[in-house]
Amino acid sequence: MKRLPIGIPIVASLAAFILILLALLAGSRPGFMEEYDLVAFNTSGLGQNLINIGNDNDEPTPTDSSLCDGIGGFLGRTCTSATAAIDSLQSDIADRVNDIGNEVADELADRLGIHEFYSLHALTICEGDYAPNATTSGADRNVTECHKGFTEGYNISALLDHGLRVGPYRLTLADLGFTDELQDAIDTLNKVLKAFTALLIVAVGFTGLSMLASIAALVLIPHNERKAVLVNLILAGAALSFMVLSGLIGTITASIATDKVNENGDDIGLSSSMGTGYLIITWVAVGLMLVTFGYWLWQFLRHRNGKTMDPRGPRKYARDSEESGAYGDRPNMSGINFSRTRR
Ligand SMILES: *[C@@H]1O[C@H](CO)[C@@H](O)[C@H](O)[C@H]1NC(C)=O
Ligand SMILES: *[C@@H]1O[C@H](CO)[C@@H](O)[C@H](O)[C@H]1NC(C)=O
Ligand SMILES: *[C@@H]1O[C@H](CO)[C@@H](O)[C@H](O)[C@H]1NC(C)=O
Ligand SMILES: *[C@@H]1O[C@H](CO)[C@@H](O)[C@H](O)[C@H]1NC(C)=O
Repeated sequence: MKRLPIGIPIVASLAAFILILLALLAGSRPGFMEEYDLVAFNTSGLGQNLINIGNDNDEPTPTDSSLCDGIGGFLGRTCTSATAAIDSLQSDIADRVNDIGNEVADELADRLGIHEFYSLHALTICEGDYAPNATTSGADRNVTECHKGFTEGYNISALLDHGLRVGPYRLTLADLGFTDELQDAIDTLNKVLKAFTALLIVAVGFTGLSMLASIAALVLIPHNERKAVLVNLILAGAALSFMVLSGLIGTITASIATDKVNENGDDIGLSSSMGTGYLIITWVAVGLMLVTFGYWLWQFLRHRNGKTMDPRGPRKYARDSEESGAYGDRPNMSGINFSRTRR
């Protein structure tokens, strides 16, 4: 078998390190690799359902009054007035939001005091508006600000709630129809993302070390090949494991959260999407790290079979081992080779 150049793991681990570092840093500053988010929430339609209540029905939406049927006396009257209170609360909100009149959906978020999108990155939550507008297909994202997510939590609801409360209508998320299921999905996402980012940071560290060790191997192999190969194998293996782990957690979480939010947010005008760019750079980095790991594993096995990576290694020795391959397994010969390198 021919030698594989040591340039392979150096280039592969360097490229993997750059990609995984970008995956970590994407979105860390407003507008920096904004498209490389894990999950983005499109909030430009929030509140749309309230406007429709006012426009489509002359009467406020009838709350299921049959709920109170069959309950007599005081309890029945309480039940009826309770549902009436809910009706009037709903139409009150609808009236307030209807101040917006027939303005286009595009301005809704703005009028409510929130932004049109909220995007989750490894380290941050960014918010901003679509440009030129939310309904244009393939609209760009114009980021206004980014908040620390890893240290302060990825609770999008808290940001929305704050925006709504200080907004002109002083609404809450509950007013917009945010359900507990929706909040549960966001809370779960919040928790898992922290674990994901922690793993990603460790993965970045090991990938960096693996890259440095591959470069150091250039110098170290003539001195102590066994140690250099072993250290590289361990570092590449650790980098690969943490990268795969964080990649799987990120991919699976983003996918489940997106489904849950779309399922529960559909009727209140909330939608979400997974970031494909993010997935691509993460999994390409995994592929590159797999190449690096594969290279060192191959060298490790070769070394155990008594072959050396050192190009200045004894000529005779190198020829011998190639011949031994050609002649098949000759036990005494491979035994000699083995003990020579093991020394
Ligand atoms: C982005 O937002 C800023 C203010 O938040 C605004 O001044 C700017 O015009 C927007 N850019 C685009 C392309 O819409
Ligand atoms: C959104 O922007 C596009 C392109 O600028 C424009 O054609 C369209 O009318 C806008 N839609 C709304 C609702 O403003
Ligand atoms: C955001 O959501 C609105 C309303 O739900 C939809 O019309 C619009 O196409 C979406 N925009 C993007 C960029 O996903
Ligand atoms: C997130 O924010 C919402 C709204 O402020 C709040 O109801 C919810 O409890 C928060 N979740 C966590 C996990 O802090």
